[in-house]
Amino acid sequence: MNRLTTSQGEFDLARFPENPRDPLRAWDAADEYLLRRLEGAEGSEPVRPDGTVAVVGDRWGALATALAAHSPVVITDSYLARQATRANLERNGAASDSVRVLSVRDAPPERVDLLLVRVPKSLALLEDQLHRLAPAVHEGTVVIGTGMVKEIHTSTLKLFERIIGPTRTSLAVKKARLIFCTPDPSLPRTPSPWPYRYTLPDDVGAVSGRTVTNHAGIFCAERLDIGTRFFLKHLPERTGPDRVVDLGCGNGVVGTAAALANPGAAVTFIDESYRAVASAETTFRDNTAPGAEADFLVGDGMADVPPESVDLVLSNPPFHSHQAVTDATARSMFHGARAALRQGGELWVVGNRHLGYHTQLRRIFGNCVTVAGDPKFVVLRAVKR
Ligand SMILES: C[S@@+](CC[C@H](N)C(=O)[O-])C[C@H]1O[C@@H](n2cnc3c(N)ncnc32)[C@H](O)[C@@H]1O
Repeated sequence: MNRLTTSQGEFDLARFPENPRDPLRAWDAADEYLLRRLEGAEGSEPVRPDGTVAVVGDRWGALATALAAHSPVVITDSYLARQATRANLERNGAASDSVRVLSVRDAPPERVDLLLVRVPKSLALLEDQLHRLAPAVHEGTVVIGTGMVKEIHTSTLKLFERIIGPTRTSLAVKKARLIFCTPDPSLPRTPSPWPYRYTLPDDVGAVSGRTVTNHAGIFCAERLDIGTRFFLKHLPERTGPDRVVDLGCGNGVVGTAAALANPGAAVTFIDESYRAVASAETTFRDNTAPGAEADFLVGDGMADVPPESVDLVLSNPPFHSHQAVTDATARSMFHGARAALRQGGELWVVGNRHLGYHTQLRRIFGNCVTVAGDPKFVVLRAVKR
């Protein structure tokens, strides 16, 4: 945990799940710059929130916690961000109902008077978020975006221009930049181009030629990932009433392939992204028989799966958390998979060869074999004994 000092107050903040050894802070210079600007630093007039404040894409709840006195509506696609926001509010004594946290499944507020946008890594996600919020923005809405310089491109500013109105940026401070956007209600309201559907190639086993649905911002939303493609060619061939988990399911292509290859299987799709789980549900329903058995969970890895209840876990684990490269999530997923597997159950993982997942799997499971490999990827199997 670390302490954020701002003119709004001092706040103890942590990421989620909280890990005392995690060196990464729950905020960055972009959050600090925005909070300073709201208080009138940098020689500007303070922004006095009046009416509905919406905070989009707050990474770990730093903005929501610092602005809790204004009862903001927080809109996020991330379960981890949602949990972090709740924990940080509680840790800093904010009333549990001071902040409303919405996901993509909830309708956005009807009117927003101050819109604060933490620019996401994915341009598509920003596009979809702005489209969803544009109807709530009016001539008097103050719109401020924030991000690290490396996250803000000409294409980012063009999106604000096209969907909300004229846009300019601030000077960079500590490698962060603000975006100021003046709403133009006369701009034509166009629908979001998301979700996007594409057809899979013909060499990916049970899902060959099938169509997958992708909501904005999910992993490989516009084309099949090459690691996933390799995985689809080497999935286990099993029959019978398996309980299968597609862990970190993205658009659900892996779990759908498992269900099509083994109609006796019941698949649980898990992701920490609400949009990913919504995508997986559509992909699965579009490609399987009506009533095919499956569950769709938004959550942190295997945390909500009962111990010793699963026969097979399939995963292409993440190795990024926002801009940071980390194997912490993969490691925690491997531990979670082991706990959820029955004796004899298997975890199958695809990963870049250089990530060295086999070392971790051997440490956690006591065994690991390479099922398939090419110069770039390996498919690994670890068995719970
Ligand atoms: C490399 S992508 C794989 C997506 C999909 N299985 C595929 O192969 O196309 C990893 C996925 O893990 C999800 N993820 C990241 N952290 C997670 C967590 N703590 N719990 C569950 N899912 C997580 C990401 O949102 C992302 O969809």
